[in-house]
Amino acid sequence: MSKSNKEVPKLKLNQGWNYAPAPESASHVKLKDKYDLFIGGQFVKPTSGKYFDTINPANEEKIAKVAEANTADVDKAVKAARTAYDKVWKKMPPKERGKYIYRIARLIQERAREFAVIESMDGGKPIKEARDVDVPLVANHFFYYAGWADKLQYAFPNRIPQPLGVAGQIIPWNFPLLMAAWKIAPALACGNTVVLKPAETTPLTALKLAELIQESGLPEGVVNIITGFGETGAAIVNHPGIDKIAFTGSTDVGKIIQKAVAGTNKKVTLELGGKAANIIFDDAPIDQAVEGIINGIYFNQGHVCCAGSRLFVQESVYEEVIQKLKDRIETLIVGDPMDKNTDIGAINSRQQLDNINKYLKIGADEGAEMYQSSCNLPGKGFFCKPTIFTNVAQSSRIAQEEIFGPVLTVQTFRTDDEVIEKANNTPFGLSAGVWTDKGSKIFNLTTKMRAGVVWANTYNKFDPTAPFGGYKESGFGREGGLHGLSAYLKV
Ligand code: NAI
Ligand code: MG
Repeated sequence: MSKSNKEVPKLKLNQGWNYAPAPESASHVKLKDKYDLFIGGQFVKPTSGKYFDTINPANEEKIAKVAEANTADVDKAVKAARTAYDKVWKKMPPKERGKYIYRIARLIQERAREFAVIESMDGGKPIKEARDVDVPLVANHFFYYAGWADKLQYAFPNRIPQPLGVAGQIIPWNFPLLMAAWKIAPALACGNTVVLKPAETTPLTALKLAELIQESGLPEGVVNIITGFGETGAAIVNHPGIDKIAFTGSTDVGKIIQKAVAGTNKKVTLELGGKAANIIFDDAPIDQAVEGIINGIYFNQGHVCCAGSRLFVQESVYEEVIQKLKDRIETLIVGDPMDKNTDIGAINSRQQLDNINKYLKIGADEGAEMYQSSCNLPGKGFFCKPTIFTNVAQSSRIAQEEIFGPVLTVQTFRTDDEVIEKANNTPFGLSAGVWTDKGSKIFNLTTKMRAGVVWANTYNKFDPTAPFGGYKESGFGREGGLHGLSAYLKV
């Protein structure tokens, strides 16, 4: 196996190759100039008459105007959802509910390309990820929960599971359509109706989903999709007609929501930030582990709550791992998200890029050593080079705070106990990765790590059947799998 001070051969990947541009066509995409609010099965104008722009973060060009919902619009949407719940959805035989959800899943598959392109344009993620990861998972999620709709009594034996009522759902910009699916599919399968708000920088795939839902013939008001900023989200949280809040986003807003619902009867699930440890033991298959590290942090520009942003490498393989990592990031293609070769697309917004750059400066000021790939960034749009920080102190802010960008911090360790302590020494606890040849090490770590998900010899793998969620400041409640059902039921 790999030993410490041997000469590390330089990786000869595709360094120096020049890829011809391979842009995905957007000619099949139908987008309107202006989007209204989807309430009660219709697109309706916002009460305020106000609209805001959603832009393409890869070129800073406006894509469309989107309605800004105020409290009056939120009230309308909640009332539409309540009427649909009382009059139609909760009374409908579960088997029939399931058929509607299956239909939505099939329609998404039919239009997968269009959804993938819009996701990439509006959010900045590489088309190959939108196409191969996000959209297939979205369809799978609807298929999976459609199957549960008429089998809830088997999920909860000897109980009579009942829906909660109207769910208010607020989602972020890192996986816009996938988060909409994670929220909507289980809610509907359990017999709830929904008011969903996508993030202000990535509203378009949710609005396209609204069009698809309208075409699917889903009874009006069962799903309402309204757009706006934090204030719109707060109006959903504070509306007395809401029975459940499901939120994914920043820990700061999660805390505000938790306070707002305290003392009410609203149920709440929060999926918040992360600062996941990715742990490489010296007996790990190093080349695979390097790929896992790359996938763990640079996937989706590091806009992933479970990103493996803190790397822990056992001392004896440190030099080898770092050299291979540096060689590997040199080969990553950063640029146009619509190009099929692109590995790292655009940072979602100027605000997020500023935030990442702030942490790059903090890291340098704290005395960590920064390494970036030598790639050229496009002149326009929001981009960040893949970055590695070595010589990072456990107490440094770049090792403690969520950066949410393509930025990896590296620390070393000698023993299992040491790495478990270091890995757990964070306010978060969403996920972790372990790379080793030994099953016993995996079991030891998975039982001692305070993380909702622990991947062994892989990273960032998702499946609708597997529950996902965190400990501590990463939130509470689980989404996905059978566990994801109980978030939308009284049992
Ligand atoms: P954010 O938490 O402000 O936004 C997420 C969603 O919450 C958006 O739809 C937003 O409109 C809504 N929102 C904002 N304020 C609200 C309020 N008071 N009440 C109800 N809804 C509200 O996240 P932001 O500002 O976009 O990102 C900041 C940081 O949060 C990122 O740098 C990252 O560290 C973290 N984040 C984590 C995510 C995750 O998946 N866990 C996703 C997005 C951001
Ligand atoms: Mg946008």
